[in-house]
Amino acid sequence: MAVKKNTAMPITEIEHSAFCSTSDQLKVKTLSEEFGVNVRWQKIPEKYLTMQPDELDVRISKCKEILQGKVKILGHHYQRDEVIKHADFEGDSFKLSKEASESPDAEYIVFCGVHFMAETACIVCSDDQKVFLPNINAGCSMADMAPTDDVLDAWDDIVSLVSASSVVPITYMNSTASIKALCGEHGGIVCTSSNAKKVFEWAFSKGDKVFFIPDQHLGRNTAVNFGISLEDIVVWNPFKPFGGLSSEQIKKSKVIVWQGHCAVHTRFSAQQIVQARSRYKDINILVNPEFPLEVEEAADYVGSTEYIINTVNKAAKGTIWGVGTEISLVNRLARLNPDKTIFCLDPIVCPCSTMYRIHPAYLLWVLEGLCNGIEINRITVDDNIKRNAFVALERMLQIN
Ligand code: 13P
Ligand code: SF4
Repeated sequence: MAVKKNTAMPITEIEHSAFCSTSDQLKVKTLSEEFGVNVRWQKIPEKYLTMQPDELDVRISKCKEILQGKVKILGHHYQRDEVIKHADFEGDSFKLSKEASESPDAEYIVFCGVHFMAETACIVCSDDQKVFLPNINAGCSMADMAPTDDVLDAWDDIVSLVSASSVVPITYMNSTASIKALCGEHGGIVCTSSNAKKVFEWAFSKGDKVFFIPDQHLGRNTAVNFGISLEDIVVWNPFKPFGGLSSEQIKKSKVIVWQGHCAVHTRFSAQQIVQARSRYKDINILVNPEFPLEVEEAADYVGSTEYIINTVNKAAKGTIWGVGTEISLVNRLARLNPDKTIFCLDPIVCPCSTMYRIHPAYLLWVLEGLCNGIEINRITVDDNIKRNAFVALERMLQIN
């Protein structure tokens, strides 16, 4: 088997609520103050710990001037404002990787996002480009819920019962390069939250069963949306032999979803939607597709990060929006659309704790390294994994 174990540090659920607060202001502090929050921070030279936000801004801008034309800073929509303001391009995971691949002149891609996104950029970029992640501990707990060996074991178990050509593995973009490679190698494909339904159509034109990794909610919601009944969807529990399923259940199912989820998006509940509706009669509820099915069903609009942004930006003046997604994005949408009422459905302010680990001090550390010819936190992907993962990504791009 060509697929290798991934080495990214697993992020725990406990770390995920580390930055939760009841204040609606997520203001950047010096890194030494933020180190008080109980998550695994990457070690950084001491001088960066006490730099004030203003000094960080000035120094980052200076580095950008020195590296002009050579560096492209990409910022995911979930990044904090203090990082996003330095990005040359802002987008969701798909758009950012596309931007990286379409910027061949940028020798250095500094990816302000999480590990799987930087890996994806590496897969689609040319060999002359180098990708960096400012804080190496900025992983993704959902991607970590699907370790390569567990997924390989599950695949072997499934194809011991049904023919490999009848099962199409689909992995959500939010997965490691190794899982993408596994899909590429076995006739499978990658999907994003904006094209999952089209990818299901493609998969069912190739086989009669889908193995969906790692987000059970996106997998289930897309399957239901595609017309598959809940009885035909089973959940693969990686902690149990044969996923906790009987041979009969595996053979009969149409979709097998991996038991993974996003700790940020599963904080939202149908009850929060009921409360928002009781507060505002004409409210529009807009949520991300990584929510449990009952929450999706209680919402008015469901869609990817880009869909959420476009919907709110295009909405009429005076409209009211209860949004269910990452708080840094919701706060930014509210700030940029002062003519509308926009708020997060979750009253507790909980940023994605791994995205939040990209503090501007880490961005500066990586940029100053590049100015001095030192490569810090370069992300690389093994050639064989890269090749197979590219196959799965290409299949997705062809049906888009
Ligand atoms: P997208 O950028 O594809 O929206 O996904 C980011 C993410 O992490 C969603 O939870
Ligand atoms: Fe991963 Fe969820 Fe954070 Fe996205 S929001 S990076 S899926 S943990």
